Amino acid sequence: MSEHFLVTGGNRLEGEVLVGGAKNSVLKLMAAALLAEGTTVVTNCPDILDVPLMADVLRGLGCEVELEDSEVRITTPAEPKYHADFDAVKQFRASVCVLGPLVARCRRAVVALPGGDAIGSRPLDMHQSGLRLLGACSEIEHGCVVAEADDLHGANIRLVFPSVGATENILMAAVLARGETVIDNAAREPEIVDLCNMLNEMGAKVSGGGSSTLTIQGVRKLEPTTHRVIGDRIVAATWGVAASMTRGDVRVRGVNHKHLGLVLDKLRTAGAEVTPEVDGFRVIQRERPKAVNFATLPYPGFPTDLQPMAIGLAAVAEGTSMITENVFESRFRFVEEMIRLGADARTDGHHAVIRGVPVLSSAPVWSSDIRAGAGLVLAGLVADGTTEVHDIFHIDRGYPRFVENLRGLGGVIERVGSE
Ligand code: UD1
Repeated sequence: MSEHFLVTGGNRLEGEVLVGGAKNSVLKLMAAALLAEGTTVVTNCPDILDVPLMADVLRGLGCEVELEDSEVRITTPAEPKYHADFDAVKQFRASVCVLGPLVARCRRAVVALPGGDAIGSRPLDMHQSGLRLLGACSEIEHGCVVAEADDLHGANIRLVFPSVGATENILMAAVLARGETVIDNAAREPEIVDLCNMLNEMGAKVSGGGSSTLTIQGVRKLEPTTHRVIGDRIVAATWGVAASMTRGDVRVRGVNHKHLGLVLDKLRTAGAEVTPEVDGFRVIQRERPKAVNFATLPYPGFPTDLQPMAIGLAAVAEGTSMITENVFESRFRFVEEMIRLGADARTDGHHAVIRGVPVLSSAPVWSSDIRAGAGLVLAGLVADGTTEVHDIFHIDRGYPRFVENLRGLGGVIERVGSE
């Protein structure tokens, strides 16, 4: 039995929505619990499918994991297992973040190559070359990344691209390595800063979080801690863009607006009044949005995870927008679904040109990943008639209480089962 959404367009979104903890942070913080024997508590966890999936990965490694409301308690044994098999990791890519902690703790890791979103090739070469510089051998064997190290030592590591996942894995291995590690061209995402903060609370010595140079003095042992996940900036921005597209008035809470500087500027360019608030921001759009150009880049650039929403906004904006995807080459597959909804869009390589139309036209569409799914629902909100959005399990992986939140803002959406 699979489910789909029925989204009926035409309503202006109005009201307030509270955002939970960041998906792209919580999964790494849960993996970091492997670094210390004892009970680590992570609070403000979002109610999304990837959290129980990560809990299963950790259970497979010998941890006890309890999930209650928005809290997860992970008790890590003195000697975790080092093999995360395919059944555990196949459903989501972020599971690969156990690699660094396992190498640090067990000096050995076997992690099946993960599944995940269909947004482009996602190699692990930078993760592996970083671990090698720390003294580990790392190969791909029988569908698994295998890493082993007798002695993990500090190193100077320069990433060829500021990969989020590679920065996290190398960081989590380096905290228990002997001596100093410097990671240059490190990713600067707020979720990396969240991880650095939690590691420091556990007794690690990491400095430079949020800059492109991370310096880590290895320590012998870490202790468990209790840590609150930062708010999800991608979910928050999704509601902000939805407000702009529907000419609505939405207050988003539970997020640091500073994590969305460029995104909020783009909404202003589209004609929205955007007001930063203590724990979020408010977006009011009175007229039809204006065309805006977007180019995705690593943080603090415009997030690739918001590219589908940017395309949705451009599709109904007045004028022509140019959108450039610089991070994941296959993300433009989503544009085919937008064309089905009546968008006037063309892609050429990693560029898309979108001529805005006043209103989209409802149609059945298919989500190919979490963010594409959310982008299609937003498009459905500004289409005439009722749009069917299929493969919505993707959306459930990243957006907590999606239907309830959207309905709370006045959106018309229904979850229906289908054979
Ligand atoms: C994370 C986020 C994802 C976001 C992405 C970029 C999580 C769970 N996922 O994914 O939502 O879209 O950051 O902001 O946090 N690359 C290599 N070799 C490597 C590693 C990466 O070539 O070893 C390439 C990738 O193919 C991609 C680019 O680097 O083109 C960025 O990937 P990366 O930053 O690693 O993304 P993820 O950590 O997988």
